[in-house]
Parts: sequence; structure tokens; C-alpha cells
Amino acid sequence: METGTRIADSCLKEIQMQHVRTQVTQIQHVADDFKIISFDLNLNSLAGQFVFVWLPGVAEKPFSVLDDNPLTIAVQERGKCTRAINELKAGDPVYIRGPHGTGFTKLSSHHLVLVGGGSGIAGLYLFAKHFASTHKITTLIGTKDDNHIFYKKEFEQCGDVLIATEDGSLGKKGFVTELFSDVCFDRETQFINCGPLPMIEAVTKIESQITTGEHILSSIDYLTMCGVGICGTCADSHGTRSCVEGPFY
Ligand SMILES: Cc1cc2nc3c(=O)[nH]c(=O)nc-3n(C[C@H](O)[C@H](O)[C@H](O)COP(=O)(O)OP(=O)(O)OC[C@H]3O[C@@H](n4cnc5c(N)ncnc54)[C@H](O)[C@@H]3O)c2cc1C
Ligand code: FES
Repeated sequence: METGTRIADSCLKEIQMQHVRTQVTQIQHVADDFKIISFDLNLNSLAGQFVFVWLPGVAEKPFSVLDDNPLTIAVQERGKCTRAINELKAGDPVYIRGPHGTGFTKLSSHHLVLVGGGSGIAGLYLFAKHFASTHKITTLIGTKDDNHIFYKKEFEQCGDVLIATEDGSLGKKGFVTELFSDVCFDRETQFINCGPLPMIEAVTKIESQITTGEHILSSIDYLTMCGVGICGTCADSHGTRSCVEGPFY
């Protein structure tokens, strides 16, 4: 202690771990296992950031900020917490922590191509909304069927939208990778990917034939606990902590 820096206390004070109590205001039923939920909370979030939703007695889990004013998230049911969130009714209380993660205010490329699969589409809308006035936006969406498409109109207000569904119920039949042949790219195109790992692997393989690594940003759902870089749970094999250096990197 005598020779130490004694800065730990001040470092901890800078870490934002507080929850805000709010309530559900609106629920949009997208599919039986998928809802869009808005809260009585305005959150000035940057593109690429996420929040934690805490239901006391259930769990606290991370969700992309689909929209920020008011805070809106898209929830795909997977287990205990997402099921409990999707059972919430208007007026029910929830606790929000965040926004967390590295947000983007500048992207140098003139053309942003947003590539989303399933609930990963939620992580892309703020890129479209915040950059539509300065960048050309093309959104490539892949889902299992037309019931799981959400925010289509909102994305269309920002640029071109191409859709692929696994059952062919909307757009091209197949995976989101089928859509790449329908878009013109150049080496300066900025790709921003969000979705399950197999999708990220498939699309980055195509994108790396078009451009270089610095023009490809991807978000993968690593298990995320603290969200502020102290527990190491979300670190990838290179030690990059998705919750602070990402989730888009
Ligand atoms: C930065 C970030 C942003 C996210 N944004 C969103 C979002 O916008 N919308 C959304 O619906 N989800 C999002 N997720 C994933 C979400 O946090 C998980 O779905 C949630 O933690 C599952 O909690 P649970 O208690 O319902 O399920 P659990 O009980 O934790 O898991 C139930 C089952 O689902 C599997 N599972 C858990 N998480 C995932 C996953 N991400 N993908 C596939 N299978 C999984 C588990 O292996 C298990 O088999 C995000 C995750 C991260 C890290
Ligand atoms: S979740 Fe704890 S370091 Fe990222």
C-alpha cells in the first residue's frame, strides 16, 4: 500500500454499473418466439452499443439497442431470461444498465453494407439510422421465414434492403450469403455484420474477397457478464473483450 498507486478506487468509480428502473411501454408481437419491446426510457446510444436488461429474481442479459429514443430491443426467445422478458406486459418494471460497448460516430467508407441474421438484425438499425444522411446504406437481411423480419420499413427509409428467407417466404430463398451477388461493392465498402457465428464466418469469407480486414466489422454473441471489461467472460481467443473493445470489431 505504501508504494502502490492507490488508483483502484478512482478507476472503479468511473465504471458505469448502475441500473435505471423503467417500465415496458409497448410490445410488438413479431412471431411466437420473437418480440420488440419499448421502454419508458430515452437513451442516447451510439451505433453498435448494447444494454443489459435485468429482471430481479430471473437474470440480467445483454441486448443490442435496436432503437434508442425510446429504448427499444428485439428479443428472440432462447431460455429463461428471454422467455421472461417476452412475457412482460405494458407497465411492468425492468432495470436497464448501459449503454455499453464501443459505439461508432464516424465511418470513413461512403457505402455501408449492413449484414444481419435473425435477432442480429437488431444490432444494425442504429448504423442505418445514424449514418443514412451521410452514407449510402444497403441492408442484407437473412431470417428463417417472413414472420421473423422486423424493422423492414425503418431500414427501407435509410436505403436499399435485400431479404433472404430460409423457406423462401420472402425475398430470395436461402441464407443471407445468397444476396451478395445482387449488390455492387468496391474495395472501400464497409461491411458491418451481426448474427450467429456460422453466418459471420460465411459472410466474412465473401467480404474478405472484396475488401480488407479494416473494412469488416462483426459482432458475435460472446457470453457477456459484467459488460465493463473486468470479468473477462467475453474475451475471444486473442483476449479481446467483446463488451468493451466490441461488440463490433
Ligand atoms: C452484445 C450482445 C447483444 C445481444 N443482442 C441481442 C438482441 O438484440 N436480441 C436477442 O434476442 N439476443 C441478443 N443477444 C443474445 C442474448 O443476450 C441471449 O439470447 C440471452 O442471453 C439468452 O438468455 P436466456 O436466459 O434466455 O437463455 P439461456 O438460458 O442463457 O440459454 C438458453 C439456450 O440458448 C442458447 N443461447 C444463449 N444465448 C444464445 C445466443 N446468443 N445465440 C444462440 N443461442 C444462445 C444457450 O446455449 C442455451 O442452450 C445479445 C448478446 C450479446 C452478447
Ligand atoms: S463481460 Fe466481463 S469483461 Fe466482458
